[in-house]
Amino acid sequence: MKYLMAANWKMYKTAGEARETATDLVARTADSLGTDREVLVFPPFTAISAVAEAFENAPGFSYGAQNFHPADEGAFTGEIAPRMLADLGCAWLLTGHSERRHVFGETDETVAAKTAYGRTQGFNVCLCIGETIEQRKASQVEAVLRRQLSTGLADADGAALDGANFAVAYEPVWAIGTGEVAGPDEIVEAHAITRRVLGELLGDVASQIRILYGGSVKPDNAASIIALDNVEGVLVGGASLLAESFARIVTA
Ligand code: PGA
Repeated sequence: MKYLMAANWKMYKTAGEARETATDLVARTADSLGTDREVLVFPPFTAISAVAEAFENAPGFSYGAQNFHPADEGAFTGEIAPRMLADLGCAWLLTGHSERRHVFGETDETVAAKTAYGRTQGFNVCLCIGETIEQRKASQVEAVLRRQLSTGLADADGAALDGANFAVAYEPVWAIGTGEVAGPDEIVEAHAITRRVLGELLGDVASQIRILYGGSVKPDNAASIIALDNVEGVLVGGASLLAESFARIVTA
């Protein structure tokens, strides 16, 4: 199983800026990916084609979409359908990101519908989960992760999920964009819960599903984070925006 080193560019970068960063990233990391790393970038919609061009002859580099509407097409002003993203060569879709949940009001049920729909359209899906600081202080970490996983996967064909087409990103909300990274004990505990719940929901295949950590991952903490039990990659926001910084994370 390869470590999945993923970048979430959020609402940053024009197409030109994205092309430059993606090209620079390939130049810095392509020769050192080895057999145990792969790179995945989630650019904003308008920069997907630019990243596609930059990754064209770069094995081990793929890209996906941060959001989509779970329908084939229709009167959904302002939305993007998965088939439009397939047309751009996207392999992955992100669901359940904390900013989608907390800024744009997506519920567990919305996340479930999107996760299931993305899979039926043949995409690999990365489902994000994570507790708020209030939930952590109230000792609800396990309950929250369990609910987000079981509801998030409720509509999906669990039997068709595997280590290649599905990943989970544990991103404690209080660590996203705050500079406050979860400690090793917190990460190990949350990832163990995630692995256990995935086992209850999906059976043996759970051991193959990559669980990424996200939340203030930086070049200087990436190596120690991916060395932890049940951590098979990272999902990086701020520190993925500069090729130099993300390259150091990818090869950490
Ligand atoms: P951050 O964001 O690395 O800037 O904390 C992570 C994310 O939102 O996926």
